[in-house]
Amino acid sequence: MSSQNHNNARFPDGFRWGAATSSYQIEGAVREGGRGQSIWDTFSHTPGKTVNGDTGDIAVDHYHRWHQDVAMMRELDLQAYRFSIAWPRIIPEGVGRVNQEGLDFYDRLVDGLLEAGIVPWATLYHWDLPQALGDQDGLKNRDIADAFEAYVGAVTDRLGDRVKKWITINEPFVAGFIGYWWGMHAPGETSRAAGLAAVHNLLRMHGKGVDVVRERVPDARVGITLNLTSVYTLGDSEADEDEVRRDDGLSNRWFLDPVFKGSYPEDMVEEFGDDMPEVHPGDMELMSRETDFLGVNYYMPSYVKAGVENAFFDPSLAPDYERTATGWLVEPRGLKDLLVRIDQDYGPEEIYITENGAAFDDDRPVDGRVHDPRRLAYYHGHLGACHDAIGQGVPLKGYFAWSLMDNFEWSEGYSKRFGIVYVDYSTQERTPKDTARWYANVIRENAIQPEDARGT
Ligand code: FCB
Repeated sequence: MSSQNHNNARFPDGFRWGAATSSYQIEGAVREGGRGQSIWDTFSHTPGKTVNGDTGDIAVDHYHRWHQDVAMMRELDLQAYRFSIAWPRIIPEGVGRVNQEGLDFYDRLVDGLLEAGIVPWATLYHWDLPQALGDQDGLKNRDIADAFEAYVGAVTDRLGDRVKKWITINEPFVAGFIGYWWGMHAPGETSRAAGLAAVHNLLRMHGKGVDVVRERVPDARVGITLNLTSVYTLGDSEADEDEVRRDDGLSNRWFLDPVFKGSYPEDMVEEFGDDMPEVHPGDMELMSRETDFLGVNYYMPSYVKAGVENAFFDPSLAPDYERTATGWLVEPRGLKDLLVRIDQDYGPEEIYITENGAAFDDDRPVDGRVHDPRRLAYYHGHLGACHDAIGQGVPLKGYFAWSLMDNFEWSEGYSKRFGIVYVDYSTQERTPKDTARWYANVIRENAIQPEDARGT
């Protein structure tokens, strides 16, 4: 469907509009407020792990500038803000002593958001594991689930009277597979068995998190955020189709099946063979605790072909598609197909897009403006996909842009800008990009705006 057709397309009343960030990517102040070290401090300080050796030491200094950032969110008319809580600020050694100063920080942030009329959505784990736990086998250690349980208890005890939307884990695929199997994220291990063990424990942590939130915050809504994709092939052989099954198994079903069906997909269990983690009695029941919503992070489709490794990064497989600065394909249809499929195969009560967005190389602000037409077109197209999915009966209830502002993009450091707000890293000055101004109009109208409606 051409983008034109979505102009002025209205969303259902009560649809929620927000933006997302995560602690290590924005806070900085890594040695302040009693914060302990995280595995991302260690990893980013290890030579060769991030572009330019960038670290989150300062990031966008949100720890000191949160007040101003909340004011900016208010100006953009955001209705919801998804942030994450840094475990090492709350329990610096991973287990044991609770650091009240860490809780105080999020306490003030939550009050600030509520005063601004913005609904806080808290993610409990967005990858900054306390290093003390990293030193004890990190996510591979089954005891991590008990440590997480205690941490979630401390957080919900303090914030649960005001925070009612909770996300247990962000993207177990990335934290587990990219961190422990492919080694591009902290802690940088490269073993398939380690990746599978990490994911297994992340899903157990999710279940424990759900239990704690339910117990401490009876009126809470709780769910998990998965990064998911639509898998296609441009090939036409049986082997190509089989590759679609495999990639879907690895990217989607490995996570959706345990959470919604309480089992791992058989075809993949067979493929993983001896690398499979030990499944203890009760594990699958824990992973499949009832949730109130599914958070979906979607950025790009996956195109695969038999015999080609990491096919979605191979431009020759999908030559006609536009790519972002991270090399990711721009294909809104992938989001619509994904939402329809999740609804059909898994039937979550509600779905929220908890991340969607794109990195492009922005020019520096001129006269307070940053023109980012390609990012704006990306949002226009993907909101169209959301609108189409709702039209097909998908219970999509809200959308969070990734990200509120440019920030530390993990192994890409500061080289990739995902913000709808531009950050000058030398002055920390924030400037809303055209996309942010346009998005504010989308929110005000609850409808997709034409691409040239960039606000004032
Ligand atoms: C997701 C992460 C998020 C951000 C975006 C671009 O995988 O959850 O922190 O880095 O990608």
